[in-house]
Amino acid sequence: MMNCFQEKAAIVTGGTRGIGRAVAELLLGNGASVLITGRNEEAGNKAVEHLRGTYDAPVFFFKGDMGEESVCVNVADKAKELFGKVDYLVNNAFPFTAKYLDAKRSDWEHVMSAGPIAYATMIKEYVRVHGAKRPGAVVNVSSISQYIAQPHRWTYNTAKGAVGQLTKCAAMDLAPYIRVNSVSPAAVWTDECDRDHEDPFFERYHMIARVIESEEVAAPILFLLSDYASAITSTDLRVDGGYLSMGVEGWKVERPLKGSD
Ligand SMILES: NC(=O)c1ccc[n+]([C@@H]2O[C@H](COP(=O)([O-])OP(=O)(O)OC[C@H]3O[C@@H](n4cnc5c(N)ncnc54)[C@H](OP(=O)(O)O)[C@@H]3O)[C@@H](O)[C@H]2O)c1
Repeated sequence: MMNCFQEKAAIVTGGTRGIGRAVAELLLGNGASVLITGRNEEAGNKAVEHLRGTYDAPVFFFKGDMGEESVCVNVADKAKELFGKVDYLVNNAFPFTAKYLDAKRSDWEHVMSAGPIAYATMIKEYVRVHGAKRPGAVVNVSSISQYIAQPHRWTYNTAKGAVGQLTKCAAMDLAPYIRVNSVSPAAVWTDECDRDHEDPFFERYHMIARVIESEEVAAPILFLLSDYASAITSTDLRVDGGYLSMGVEGWKVERPLKGSD
């Protein structure tokens, strides 16, 4: 399926661990060159060392905070310098700032700046180095949180809501050459959703009765980047194990509602 990634080049923001790392691995395994980003240099260098030992395709790390405009500009320039072109952008790094009445203006500024504003800036920089009139693809990593209210999460859910609108608006303005889509995972086993602190109700949140693995989010992202998704733009693909289709009862109902008929 993934032959289309041979000779291609991609930027994956926040690719040193979690979902971004799984996306980088799948791209590299299918022959694409990849530039990953992150703030922690040691973790970035370690990730690249491991990836280079595992895959033949070129992979590099760029240290920087995606909340800074200059970092977005430099990431795009670096990828172009390394690979001669940038075919794909995966906007993945995002702050897990979960606050509500306790949110300070600085929390809002942080979540928006390193979240949807960074995604938008990266799309702008990707278009600058890629060209607006060549086929390309962007995937924004969103969340089920863009659709629903969750307790004490005004900041994160609002910022993910903005990703939903950004995806649609960017898809419209970059069409017909560049496709822009998003994925919305539910709970995925990463540092954010730690196996060591498993919520006993997690399995009830998903029809698949378990938490999602990063690789299970990476594969749909590669599909959306690939030529197999050539007619798909402005779409959000829910990678949620059925989370958003369920009612509050969950899937393991002790007392199912009886029909009266
Ligand atoms: N895990 C879930 O359950 C879940 C569910 C729905 C959606 N998502 C979304 O999936 C995406 C990835 O989440 P994840 O769980 O894989 O996260 P993760 O395991 O915490 O990994 C985050 C990655 O992004 C980097 N990063 C974070 N902030 C950054 C910044 N400001 N600038 C540059 N790099 C940054 C991290 O490296 P450094 O720390 O070194 O910077 C790391 O490489 C996010 O958009 C998240 O909202 C996750």
